[in-house]
Amino acid sequence: MQIFTNYSLKEHNTFGIDVIAKYFVECTDIEDLKNLFLTPVVKNNPILILGGGSNVLFTKNFEGVVIKIGIKGIKTFMEDNQFYFIKSGAGVMWHEFVLYCTERNYGGVENLSLIPGTVGAAPIQNIGAYGSELKDTFYELKALEIESGLIRTFNKEDCKFGYRDSIFKKEVKGKYVILEVVFRLAKNPAFNIQYGAIANELAASNLEPSIINIRETVIKIRKSKLPDPKTIGNAGSFFKNPNINIHKLNQLLKKFPNLVYFKVDTEQVKVSAGWLIENCGWKGYQEKDFGVYEKQALVLVNHGKAEGKEIYDLSEKILISIEEKFGIKLEREVNIIS
Ligand code: FAD
Ligand code: EPU
Repeated sequence: MQIFTNYSLKEHNTFGIDVIAKYFVECTDIEDLKNLFLTPVVKNNPILILGGGSNVLFTKNFEGVVIKIGIKGIKTFMEDNQFYFIKSGAGVMWHEFVLYCTERNYGGVENLSLIPGTVGAAPIQNIGAYGSELKDTFYELKALEIESGLIRTFNKEDCKFGYRDSIFKKEVKGKYVILEVVFRLAKNPAFNIQYGAIANELAASNLEPSIINIRETVIKIRKSKLPDPKTIGNAGSFFKNPNINIHKLNQLLKKFPNLVYFKVDTEQVKVSAGWLIENCGWKGYQEKDFGVYEKQALVLVNHGKAEGKEIYDLSEKILISIEEKFGIKLEREVNIIS
């Protein structure tokens, strides 16, 4: 395990922000990681745990130790009549895990195809797309408590999963390193094709719903909507879709009859933040190298040499304009590292 100093993070965040970490180390082994936390350099500096860097925005150099989690390995270790149980190292790329499951016809993660980042970061915000969330197939995870060096198991209830949320973003934020995650995938899955364009796309291509066909359809839809970070720096949706109550919805609909929203329950709806941002005129906005993606207003982008602070300041301006026009306060989804 080599600790690098003054290390560029440009290749380690999908925004492609060119900042420096005072120290950088990649860890592929649990025992090494435990020992790392006993070293003076880690004990005496701020730390940042990093996976694929696809949900972070660095606004300045990181004056501490960036620990990249590279723990690999995927294994089906158990099955019963209904399910396969699969264990994955935190450093496995999420889509590689999806490919492992879908190629074996294990059902439940096909709608989550092509989401960037690692398996270890996926529970942090309970990744979701196209009507599925990580929590639907999650069984348990093992995490290292940084302060004590003890390994603790979190089951589904412990994780307190919500929309783009978990205990790891709240009560125990920054206190644990996720080491491995166990999933439970279905032998006879019920396909979920109701969301978005999936059913239409399948029909248009004359395809029956199947694990592989849904995976490929989701990949196709995602590629048509979201920028590839290899070409345009981004971290997916910059904000969460906000919830509002029915009273507020009815008020807004009088003024904005085309507002896009989805029912959550009898009292709440989720409003499309992309629609709000587009309807404040931001879609396709560009200043220097930072801006708002032209095909999806929820995605802020780095066209080349943007600084994290510029993207953060733009997000602040967007927040203010949405609040002024619609009376809705957006919440950032991306983790701001300042
Ligand atoms: P990082 O960005 O490295 O880290 C994210 C957070 O988790 C940080 O706070 C970090 O400290 C912490 N962390 C990382 N690994 C660990 C660990 N092992 N233990 C403890 N803490 C850890 N998200 C969705 O939910 N749905 C989508 O459809 C979606 N689409 C996207 C599309 C694009 C083009 C991009 C760039 C991003 C998209 N995202 C989406 C966001 C992103 O892919 C997810 O949030 C992903 O889970 C982040 O994984 P990561 O390994 O890159 O995490
Ligand atoms: N819309 C607009 N203008 C836009 C963007 C969207 O009007 O610029 C409206 C359209 O009506 C569109 C609807 O919003 O049909 C929904 O858009 P989309 O299907 O692109 O989904 P989203 O709500 O913008 C969410 C997630 C994505 C996830 C997709 C698909 C959040 C914050 N974002 O986006 O997740 O991939 O649904 O399920 O919930 C991420 O979290 O990083 C992410 C990319």
